[in-house]
Order: sequence, then C-alpha cells, then structure tokens
Amino acid sequence: MTEPRVLLSQQAIEQRVDDLAREISEDYRDVDNLYMLGVLRGAFIFLSDLSRRLSIPRRVDFIALSSYEDESTTAGAVRLIMDVRAPLEGQHVLVVEDIVDTGLTLEYLLRTLGARAPASLKTCVLLEKPERLQVPVTIDYLGFTIPDEWVVGYGLDYADQFRCLPYIGVIEPKSG
Ligand code: PRP
Repeated sequence: MTEPRVLLSQQAIEQRVDDLAREISEDYRDVDNLYMLGVLRGAFIFLSDLSRRLSIPRRVDFIALSSYEDESTTAGAVRLIMDVRAPLEGQHVLVVEDIVDTGLTLEYLLRTLGARAPASLKTCVLLEKPERLQVPVTIDYLGFTIPDEWVVGYGLDYADQFRCLPYIGVIEPKSG
C-alpha cells in the first residue's frame, strides 16, 4: 500500500491537542480528580498526549469496545471487551475517543456509563465525520471535523497498520 496522504500534520495535531488541554484544564479547574477514560485501541496516543498536557489532577483508565465484526458496516452492534477498573459513581468522567464515525460506539458508551451515576460525563473526540453519522452524540471537546475518507495514524489503523504514524493521513483501502 502506498504512503498515506497527509490530512492533518503532526504540528496541526499538536496545536489542537494543546488548545483542547487548555480548555479542559480551565473547565475542570474545580474538579477533584478528573477521570479520563480512553477507548481502546484507537485513542491510546490521543489520550496519552492530552493527559500529559493537562494542568489539573487527573487519573487515566481505559475501556475496550468493539463492533461485531461480521456486522460492522451496518448493524453496528457494540460489545464491551474490557471494563473500567473503578466504580464511576460520583466521578467526573471524560471519555476520550479518537474518532466518531457512525456514532454507535460513543452512543453505546454514554448510555452504559451514564447508568453508573457519574457526577458528570463528557466527551473529547479528536475526529468526527459528520457525513457518516447515524446516531446523534454529544461531543463536548472536538479536535477536527474531517471528510468521509479512511484515515490512519495517531492511533487510527487500517488492518492494524499505521497506528504509530505521527500525523493523520488518508489511504485508499482496496475494495472487496
Ligand atoms: C473505531 C474508533 C471508535 C469507533 C468509532 O474503533 O476507535 O471507537 O471505531 O466508530 P463508530 O462511530 O462507527 O462507532 P475500532 O472498532 O476500529 O477499534 P480500534 O479502536 O481498536 O481500532
């Protein structure tokens, strides 16, 4: 496969993550210990950069979800593969996602976590693709809006490749 075409440079991402970190630090300045919850696997780099830039007390945890593979393009059934470590009751939870595509993953997650009585529940998403959205989801902190193209890098993959690229690029997956 050819080299991805650069959509968002390393510098553009760094600047945006800086801005988001400043905004989040300001909004949560009175919160005891922000519970940052990264969604594996795609969000691992975004969460790691974002969490290191915050100037407020925070903890980091992960959750793993997956679409059912044989239904991933249409039915969108989501399942929980790995849960969080601690009870979320009374916690200020910030879900950190790399991308909202159809919105089904985040919608499922917000429903599931919302039932656990957190003190607050917000979302920080690096990329959204409005053309693909199937269910409305609230994104409280957004990095970039992008067109409907297959993006890789900065945590995002194609067939488990390209996750560690420092930029976000576009590839043309083979059809079929
Ligand atoms: C990707 C991404 C989001 C989800 C978004 O995860 O990280 O969690 O898809 O898609 P949706 O809005 O259509 O639900 P993926 O299932 O590819 O797993 P990965 O993060 O392990 O690569």
